This record gives sequence, structure tokens and C-alpha cells, in this order.
Amino acid sequence: MRMVDLIHKKQENQTLTQEEIQYIVKGFTEGKIPDYQMAAFNMAVYFNGMNPKEVSALTMAMVESGDQIDLSAIKGIKVDKHSTGGVGDTTTLVLAPLVASCGVPVAKMSGRGLGHTGGTIDKLETIKGFQFELSQEDFIQQVNQHQVAVVGQTGDLTPADKKLYALRDVTSTVQSIPLIASSIMSKKIASGADAIVLDVKVGDGAFMKTIEMAEELATTMVEIGNHLGRKTVAVLSNMDQPLGFAIGNTLEVNEAVETLKGNGPEDLTQLCLSLGAQMLLSAQRVKSIQEGTDLLQEQIDSGAALKKFREFIEVQGGDASFIDEPERLGKAKYQIPYLAKSSGVVSHWVANLVGEAAMVLGAGRAVKEDQIDPVVGIVLKAKVGDSIQEGEPLAIIHSNREDISDCLARLDQAVQIADSAEELPLIYKTID
Ligand code: URA
Ligand code: CA
Repeated sequence: MRMVDLIHKKQENQTLTQEEIQYIVKGFTEGKIPDYQMAAFNMAVYFNGMNPKEVSALTMAMVESGDQIDLSAIKGIKVDKHSTGGVGDTTTLVLAPLVASCGVPVAKMSGRGLGHTGGTIDKLETIKGFQFELSQEDFIQQVNQHQVAVVGQTGDLTPADKKLYALRDVTSTVQSIPLIASSIMSKKIASGADAIVLDVKVGDGAFMKTIEMAEELATTMVEIGNHLGRKTVAVLSNMDQPLGFAIGNTLEVNEAVETLKGNGPEDLTQLCLSLGAQMLLSAQRVKSIQEGTDLLQEQIDSGAALKKFREFIEVQGGDASFIDEPERLGKAKYQIPYLAKSSGVVSHWVANLVGEAAMVLGAGRAVKEDQIDPVVGIVLKAKVGDSIQEGEPLAIIHSNREDISDCLARLDQAVQIADSAEELPLIYKTID
């Protein structure tokens, strides 16, 4: 086989065989296929796409490029949840204990945040003593004993994806549905999931700006999962505005606690119930979405979900006192109100701009090497559809510096106040 022939084949919009795709991924990972040939191939895929069989073969070849986590020693169906990345998205911190409290094992590997989106590990790291580096044995033992563990990425998972993503990033081939779908699904499959629930974000703050694009991505990922024997379902959810009120690491941990106590923001709570019900259904814990939603609500109302959260934090070495005393997580030096410049109804809170406004305060990373300031961020006081009077706070900015002009400039761009607001659905549809 010669790479140049395979590039030509995809350029001619012909279908590649599994062997050909394996040859490409293996050759590229091992450094035998140079970046310039792989870049040309990516561009051919960008324009001509791949059929479901090809995307599944690409996904599996990436899975096989590195370590695969074996979770078979954990009893039950292991369901993983993945979000394509949002602003203020605290769902994992809520869902992990909530679903585990129903007796369904949650063995979760999470990452760090980049750009305007946050990462679960950055949030958990704000909890004193919390250990997210567990050995494979301890990880499995903890899930068997406590139904939940959340760890950072361990081992050398999907090195092909890491190398490919870096190349896509500099060749304008990130925005290709087969390449995104195989990238996401390869990581989920390599981390040992039996079933996968995908939260595909749509809107200003998301990778996918339109419902059509999000639906195509979701369908492709569901096809891959089902092709490779992992029951997969995708929920398309709105990311025009941030999820919940809090954006920033300790602020979001406290928001997760409030949600587990039953006092969380409406949208975050609803999304957690929807995704959680899909997880319970995939794990065959319940027979319908309604039964799942009811069970999850019961776990919140009875305090069982919060109890599981405390257990999870403590068993991973964390100081759980913040659950009763939120100020234990620390506080930024300044709390600066961001005031409405006119009266009306909030019609836009553009998610990625709010995410960037929090990032420049130090809540996120512009580049991988940046340090995070755990206590800074933004707490919204009004969301889309809420009425506001001129001079009332739209948000509170938690900052460790007094000059926040860079943050304010982004918020000025992010918010719009009008006579009325278009009602945003939280969930557009579910694809299974
Ligand atoms: N997230 C991923 O993990 N991969 C992509 O290609 C895009 C988003
Ligand atoms: Ca939030």
C-alpha cells in the first residue's frame, strides 16, 4: 500500500477499506506517514466525508493505537457521559454521584478545560486533598465499592487522536464531522465504556453552531457506537447561553452542590435529569425515561444523591466540609457587580463570550500551559428571558485583580437587552 494512492482514492470520493484505514492510522502514529501526507488526507476527508463503515474503522484504528482501559472487573453496565464542551457546564459533577446513588457504576475519566470551556478535573482539583490520580486497580475497586470514581486521563489513550488533532488544528480540518466523531468516540471506547450518553451542544458557545450540524454529528457518533457494540444515545442541548449561573471552578463546584441539594438552577437541573435518565436507561436500571427522571428526582429529594457526593469526595481523599460551608473553597478578592446599561429583557448571553470573559480573569486556559485561578469567574444574576432594570446587576464578577476591563469588554459584547426574548428550548432532540 502507498499513502499517495489512498489520498487519491479519498480525493476521488471512493470508499476506503478497513485495512487501508488501519494502514493510514498505524503509519501516521508510528511516524512512517509524514504530516504533509496526513494533512492532505484529512483535507480529502474534510471535503468528501466518510461513510458509517469507514468512520467506524477509523474510530477503531484510533482506539487500537494506544492503551485500552479494561473495566470488565466492574460489575454492571458501565455508562459513560460525554459533553462536546460547553460554558459553565457542571453536569458531570452532578451526574456522577446522582447516577451512582441509583446503584449504577460510574467509572469516569475526565479532562482539563481549554479555551472558553471548563474541565471536570480542574473543578475537582479545587477541593483540598482530592486525589484524581488513581491506579487502575484502585479505580476499579472504588467503583465496585462506592459505585463512583472520577480520575484524570491515565495511560496512553488514543495517541493517534492526539497527533491527528494537533495536525487538524493547524490545517483547518478540525470542523469535519467524521474526524470529530471518530476523535470523540475513540476516547470513550478506549476508556472502557459499555454504553455512551452524548450531550451534543448546539449554539454560540458550542462546536456545532446549528441544529443541522449537531444532528449530523450526533447521528454519526450514534452510528459508530452501535456499529462497534456500544449502545450510544445523543441528546442535543442548547449552548447559546451558559448553563446554570456559575462559570468558574469553585463557583461551579458550589453550584453542583446546590443542584444535588435540589436548589440548583433550573436548566442545569433539567439537563442533569435528562442525561441521567438516559444513563439509567442505557444501564438497564429503569425501563423508561420517565421512570429514570422520577428516580433521580427522588434521590435528590431524599438527600441520597448529596450523600453519595460526600462519600465520593471523601473516598478520593477530599475535604468535604465545603458541602456544608461553601466559603471553605475560598473566595476571590473582589466581587464586582456588572450592571445593566438599560431596562428590558435579557435576549442574549452569548455563551462563548461569557466563557472568554471568565477565562481572562483566570478561570480557564487560553493555551494548555496556563495556570488556573480556582476562585475567579462569573455568576449570572439574570438569564435569557429575565427582566432587568437599568443599574441592576446582570452578573457578579469574582476577580483577584481590580482592573477587569478585558473581562468587561467581553461581557459588553456578550449581553443584549431587548423588549422581549425568543424562548430557548433546553433540549432540541434525542437521537438513538
Ligand atoms: N472534541 C474532540 O475530542 N475531538 C474533536 O475533534 C473535536 C472536539
Ligand atoms: Ca454553571
